[in-house]
Order: sequence, then structure tokens, then C-alpha cells
Amino acid sequence: MALRRLALAALVLAIGAVLAGATNPGFVGRISLKGLDYARQEGIAALQKELAKLKLPDFSGSFKVKVIGKVNYQFYSLNLRSFQLPSSQIALIPNVGLKVSITNAFAQVTGKWKVKKRFIRDHGSFDLKVEGLSISIGLKLGSDISGRPTITTSGCSTHISNVRVHISGKFGWLYNLFHKKIESSFRKTMESKVCGVVSSSVSTKLQPFLQTLPVTVKIDKVAGIDYSLVTPPVATAQSLDANLKGEFFSLAHRSSVPFPPPAVAFPVEHDRMVYFAASSYFFNTAGFVYHTAGALVFEITDDMIPKEFKFHLNTSNFSAFIPQLEKMYPDKPMKLRIRTSSAPFLIITPGNLSLTPVLDVQAYVILPNTSLVPVFLLGVASSVSAKITVSPARIGGTLELGKIQLSLKHSDVGPFSVQLLQALMNFYCSTILIPRINARLKEGFPLPLPSHIQLSNFIIQSRQNFLLIGADVRYQGRRGQDTAKDRYEKEMFLFPEQHRAL
Ligand SMILES: *[C@@H]1O[C@H](CO)[C@@H](O)[C@H](O)[C@H]1NC(C)=O
Ligand SMILES: *[C@@H]1O[C@H](CO)[C@@H](O)[C@H](O)[C@H]1NC(C)=O
Ligand SMILES: *[C@@H]1O[C@H](CO)[C@@H](O)[C@H](O)[C@H]1NC(C)=O
Ligand SMILES: *[C@@H]1O[C@H](CO)[C@@H](O)[C@H](O)[C@H]1NC(C)=O
Repeated sequence: MALRRLALAALVLAIGAVLAGATNPGFVGRISLKGLDYARQEGIAALQKELAKLKLPDFSGSFKVKVIGKVNYQFYSLNLRSFQLPSSQIALIPNVGLKVSITNAFAQVTGKWKVKKRFIRDHGSFDLKVEGLSISIGLKLGSDISGRPTITTSGCSTHISNVRVHISGKFGWLYNLFHKKIESSFRKTMESKVCGVVSSSVSTKLQPFLQTLPVTVKIDKVAGIDYSLVTPPVATAQSLDANLKGEFFSLAHRSSVPFPPPAVAFPVEHDRMVYFAASSYFFNTAGFVYHTAGALVFEITDDMIPKEFKFHLNTSNFSAFIPQLEKMYPDKPMKLRIRTSSAPFLIITPGNLSLTPVLDVQAYVILPNTSLVPVFLLGVASSVSAKITVSPARIGGTLELGKIQLSLKHSDVGPFSVQLLQALMNFYCSTILIPRINARLKEGFPLPLPSHIQLSNFIIQSRQNFLLIGADVRYQGRRGQDTAKDRYEKEMFLFPEQHRAL
């Protein structure tokens, strides 16, 4: 009986461990059907360019002509005049990847021919039309050891329904009698070449592009963001999802985060090409890392106080609240050092982003020899609301102070009433501290985007435990086609501060 209970307990523990291993992503990037369709257009345009560069080999053969016998022919100097991919589709294959179907493609080839048969020697040119070309491509997505996305061609087939050759020259009429043979030989050559171009385009163009996704981003001297994939990209019937770690980490010493990422109920939406779900975990690992590194420390000195403000940070003015201060340290400047006493925690609920940071405010008197004498320590409980801003490639924010609640944690100058300091501390926080923090938050953090990707047309909504960001995408990789709009958008990319949304 006891043994059975032990076995059961072990089983429960094992299941618990498995569940704990299946961690939620801190950040999800999603490509909607609209986004996939945009990717298809860009991809097909790039593939069309690659196919137009296709080098076709010479081909030769022979045919029998009555009386004359076997005639050897050779087609050479094949020149692909155009390769057009006018219609294509992309489909998601759930749990597998993507399927791209190209239909009704056509191409035109010109070249030269020659024949040799004892007394017959002739040459001329030919014109060849390929029609009804269809290409079916399977794409498989994965992730490599560093958490970058990978893409490979899992299948490719080509079919050409029609090849028409027109041969001109003195004996052109004769060879035109054997067009079927020439056409089928050419069709085989072409069919085998196209898939080669497809898989090399996927491995030399598409894969390197996807690998530009920054899996770790350095933010400043303190922190970086880990944007590595936690699972291979997931194809569903509605979207392609990249589940990313979405975690800030200390550059000096990476430690495990003491709270797990929450589950995120990412809604299916199609208005925008891409969506991001930035969970509260993403923001709270930032708070945790900066707090732990001791980076959330701010000082307020008298020179930061606006000139028009009558109340100065010195013992004579503070004596209004703490009379004994003036007696102990007559007419001395003071300084406040504010630090978070625990990591700030962002709570995201529908329509609401709020923080309730708890701060310690240590007040010092500055002696003439610049030594600091601690005089009192205040605890500050505050409520702060947050707003997230998004620029073409970055996510930032601003804070607004709500209420603050003071408590006296320690005094070196005897007891005094903190109630009287309430208005003063409120002023210091809202006019000096918050603007300084906002200036830092405004710079924001980079979004996980491959290179040359430009976002616009943002929507931002707060949902339960995460922030939903939607945007349209523009790929800026095609050179030499800059319109005025392109230039404007490039400018937005380089100077995001001037073009912030929200
Ligand atoms: C601050 O102190 C100066 C003189 O030391 C005084 O003129 C001023 O009124 C004081 N301000 C307040 C708000 O007490
Ligand atoms: C304290 O503030 C008052 C009023 O602004 C000013 O007159 C005085 O010089 C200040 N004292 C010090 C030590 O800064
Ligand atoms: C937002 O959240 C804060 C803290 O959780 C709460 O006090 C406030 O009432 C909320 N506001 C709305 C509009 O839900
Ligand atoms: C500054 O002066 C105070 C008091 O006169 C003294 O206790 C302290 O050691 C001095 N500090 C330095 C760095 O000289």
C-alpha cells in the first residue's frame, strides 16, 4: 500500500516536472494570413528574378528523315528572355509548414540551332515559348541550436503543360516537323532546373534573411533581451506563430527569473499582417533585471528643482517639517536617493496597465567637505499607470504617477510627521523622477524583427497578461525602387523619435 502511494507520488511529481518544462513564451510573433500573402508577393517577386537568371544548357539529339537518314541537331546559346510568375498561392499546412503553388507561369527562350549530316549543314535561330508552368513548393520551418528560425524546401515539383518551338532558317520547315521531340526534350531540361533554383533561393536567400532575426539584443550596459525561439515556428490553419523566450537578462550575470511566464490567450486576428503578444513576463523580467543590477536608483539634488519652485532641497526649508534638522545641520544642502525596494511589477489587464512600485527614499545632508550624512529614510508606496508606445522597430513606454503613500522607515533626527512631506514628495516624483524615467523608457527596446522589415499602421491593446500589438509590414530589401513613400518610411526607421505612434 505504502509502496503504491509512493509510486503515485513519484508519478505526480514526474507529471509536474513535464508540465513545468512546457514553459509559456514571454513574447509571441505572429504572421497572419494577410501577412503571409504579403510574404508570398515579395517571395514570388524574388523567385521570379532568380528564375530569370536561369542558365539553360545546350541540348542535342537526332531524328530520322526519310531518304536522308539520321540527322543530328544541336540547340545552343539558349537565352531566357523572360520568366513570369503571374499567379501564386500560399497555404498553411497545420503542424507541417507552408505550401506555395505557382500556376500558369510562362517563359520565353531564344537561341540558335545547327545540324550536321554529310552534305546538309545548316543553322538558324529558334524561339521557344513555355506555357502553363506550375511549381509546387513545400516549406518546412524549424529552429537551430541558437533559437534562430530555419527554413528548408521539403518538396518541389514542376510541371510544364505546353512548350512551343518555332524554328527559322533555310530548313526550318523540316525541323518544325520534329518539334514534338525537341519540345519534350526541352521540357525535361526546364522542369529539372526550376526546382534547383527554388531550393537554392530558399537556402541562399530566404534562410539567411530569417536568420537575421536578432535572438539576443544588447540594450545597454546592464541588460539584453533573449528573443530565441522556444519551439520551432508553429503553423496553424490561421497563422504562423513564433514562440520566443521574450526575457530580459543581466549581461554581467544571467540568473533564473523567479516567476514564470503566464499563459497568453492570443486571439486570431487578420486586420494586420503581423501581431505580437508581449506578455507581462517580458516587461517584468526587465524590472527584475534592472532592479537586481541596482540600476533603478535615482538621485534628486537641489539643481534639479525648477527655479520657480520656492521650496529648496536644504535644511532651512526642510525645517518647516522637521524643525530639529535645521538645528543639527544649519543651512546645509540636501539630497535624496530614490531606489526601488523590490522589482517593479507591471500588471496588464484589459484596457489597463499599472504598476505599484515600492520605493525607498533616503535623505542626506551634504556637509561642506561633500560627505553625506543620512538623516531619514522614507518608504513610498505608489500607483503608476503605464502607456506603451511603438515606433517602426521599437517598443517604448511612458509612466504617469497616481497616488503615493509615505511611511517613515528610519530617522536619524528624531520623530516627525511624514504627512506634511506628502505633497512635497508627490511634486518631486511627478516633476523630476517620472520625467527622467520616461526619457529613458522613450528610447524603448528593439522588437524582434529580421533586417529590412519596417512596421507601420500600429494597433496596441492591453489584454489579460499581455499587450497585443498589430502592424503592417514592409520589406525594404529591394533596392533601386525607392519612392517618396519608401524614403519617408526609411526616415521613420532611422529617426523613430520623430514618428512615434500613440
Ligand atoms: C525656503 O527658505 C528660504 C530662506 O531660507 C525662504 O525664504 C523660503 O520662503 C523658504 N521656502 C519655503 C517654501 O519654506
Ligand atoms: C536654501 O534655500 C534657500 C531658499 O531658496 C536659499 O536662500 C538658501 O541659500 C539655501 N541654502 C543652501 C545651503 O543651499
Ligand atoms: C487599473 O489598475 C489599477 C491597479 O490594479 C486599478 O487601481 C485601477 O482601478 C484600474 N483601472 C481600470 C480603468 O480598470
Ligand atoms: C567630513 O566632515 C565630517 C564632520 O566634520 C567628518 O566626520 C568626515 O569624516 C569628513 N569627511 C571627509 C571625507 O573628510
